[in-house]
Amino acid sequence: MDLYTGVRRLNGMKQLCLNSWPRWLSHPVLHVVVAVFAVLSVTAIGQEEPSAGQNSAQQRKTYQNMTPDQRAAATRAFLGLGPEPNKAAAARGAPLFQQNCAFCHGQNAHGVTAPSLITSDEVLSDDHGERLTPFLKAGRPDKGMPAFATMSDEQLNDIAEFLHLQVEDVANRGTYHVLNIVVGNPVQGETYVKARCMKCHTAETFAHIGSSFGSPDQLQRGWIWPASSENSKLAISATVKQPGGATLTGRVKVINDFRITVVDSAGQTHVINRGPGIEVEINDPLADHQEMIQTLTNNDMHNVTAYLATLK
Ligand code: HEC
Ligand code: HEC
Repeated sequence: MDLYTGVRRLNGMKQLCLNSWPRWLSHPVLHVVVAVFAVLSVTAIGQEEPSAGQNSAQQRKTYQNMTPDQRAAATRAFLGLGPEPNKAAAARGAPLFQQNCAFCHGQNAHGVTAPSLITSDEVLSDDHGERLTPFLKAGRPDKGMPAFATMSDEQLNDIAEFLHLQVEDVANRGTYHVLNIVVGNPVQGETYVKARCMKCHTAETFAHIGSSFGSPDQLQRGWIWPASSENSKLAISATVKQPGGATLTGRVKVINDFRITVVDSAGQTHVINRGPGIEVEINDPLADHQEMIQTLTNNDMHNVTAYLATLK
């Protein structure tokens, strides 16, 4: 047991606990981890007493030499967070989460009107969607958590990976995500962009893209999921046909299995219950783009971001 790392991790955990400590403390895996750590660190102090100064200096160096991925792995193991989230799946899950879940659970799943999912037992006890997917399909309609019965297993798995990445991001105090963004190979990224992106885009889309976002993190989110909230030509619109024959067209604010909220061209908001006889036709300018994102691997994602970051 690396004592120095252990102390660092404990600090990290304290921070997590401060944010939302009752749920974290109640998580059984965490109890076991803390107990094991306590036993091991006591043993470590006993054994390492004679050369403690030398050892901890060496260990500090090891920790400093760790790559962000290695540190994240150490955190993950220490907090019992389970296997590494699949980042490409998480990137695909992000827009699905924003569209279907964020208005209740918050953009980063930290909770708004519905609870934070960072501290959720349902999330923490899941590895790769095997538990979350059936949970999301069923929901808890009696408690205000809708059932997402019509979403595919793939989509729900992607959302699960997105949630695991949010947990990991909190566990690493927000640094992991940002540090890990520009790790790809820009030359391979350029090859990918030329082969895959140029069938829909021209060089104009990407001119100066590397300097038009505040951080590499935002750049990555920006090209994977172009923000339709800031760019009206990307907005999802819908035509809603009502039983009487009346139609309503507008920009979609919220849509789920039960309800659709659209804002019409006069700026007026309409909330429509999706009962029988209501037909909804969605026009999503980014639908093809999302389809492309479905085939993106972790490496593609890092390489493309690394390449786009060079286009200042
Ligand atoms: C209309 C609001 C609403 C939407 C939309 C919504 N949720 Fe929820 N969700 C809730 C509420 C309320 C609860 C708490 C239910 C309870 O008290 O048991 C909840 C609970 C959960 C839980 C269990 C938390 C726990 O540990 O008890 C998970 C996981 C979850 N939601 C994930 C999602 C995901 C993923 C989506 C999108 C696919 C989503 N939710 C969409 C309202 C919502
Ligand atoms: C199947 C077609 C398709 C492919 C392939 C595709 N996109 Fe897109 N993308 C679109 C559409 C449609 C839009 C909507 C706005 C537009 O026309 O620029 C868009 C928008 C964008 C935007 C936002 C532009 C803006 O004006 O805000 C970026 C950035 C972007 N794509 C990056 C990429 C990258 C990087 C790739 C390759 C990895 C890619 N796209 C591949 C169809 C595609």
